[in-house]
Amino acid sequence: MGNVHVLDHPLIKHKISMLRDKNTGTMFFRILVEEISMLMGYEALRDLPTELVKVETPISQAEVPMIAGKKPAIVPILRAGLGMVNGLTALVPTAKIGHIGLYRDEVTHEPHEYFCKLPDKIKERLVIVPDPMLATGGSAIQAVSFLKEHGCKRIKFICILAAPEGLAALEKAHPDIEVYVGCVDERLNSDAYIVPGLGDAGDRIFGTK
Ligand code: PRP
Ligand code: URA
Repeated sequence: MGNVHVLDHPLIKHKISMLRDKNTGTMFFRILVEEISMLMGYEALRDLPTELVKVETPISQAEVPMIAGKKPAIVPILRAGLGMVNGLTALVPTAKIGHIGLYRDEVTHEPHEYFCKLPDKIKERLVIVPDPMLATGGSAIQAVSFLKEHGCKRIKFICILAAPEGLAALEKAHPDIEVYVGCVDERLNSDAYIVPGLGDAGDRIFGTK
């Protein structure tokens, strides 16, 4: 799986372990998701192109590297992906933000779309798609297909936890995108929840259960 990067830095591992704990409450859960997103984003953006730009320092003129090209877009999958946006915009404050609203049917586990709004000139931008959970892969596959239908060519999907089944499905459906994962867990259970996982990411971020 050439395009899958498991970001197993000790800080990411430690913070994910804290997320898993069912006694971690909403406030701390949100803070951890933001921190992990920033650490993962730092690695995922390692290949951002730069160009040399002339500046005048207090001492002399210099040609120095700056990020090149159009501003990246961050397009979280709602709801839970929203929890990752602040951590990523801390790295790229000028990023444009889009939204893809999907929810999983509780019985079929199929994703259903309820809202989509993308930034202007999306096809010219690097698109970063955060969602903490990649379970069956259905939501990520649908979100990436939607972005491709809108002409996006450079797409990076960032998730905190993935099930092997979801990772394989995403890789098969979209072998051309880069996928960044904090940890690959054991499996899915019969309700298509990640085991051991962290439960329902959206409910834990927003305190809805
Ligand atoms: C969760 C999660 C992913 C999706 C993963 O969202 O945030 O989007 O499930 O599952 P999949 O890989 O099997 O598609 P959910 O549909 O529960 O919506 P929410 O974020 O609004 O809670
Ligand atoms: N969505 C979640 O929030 N958690 C899972 O374990 C699977 C899908």
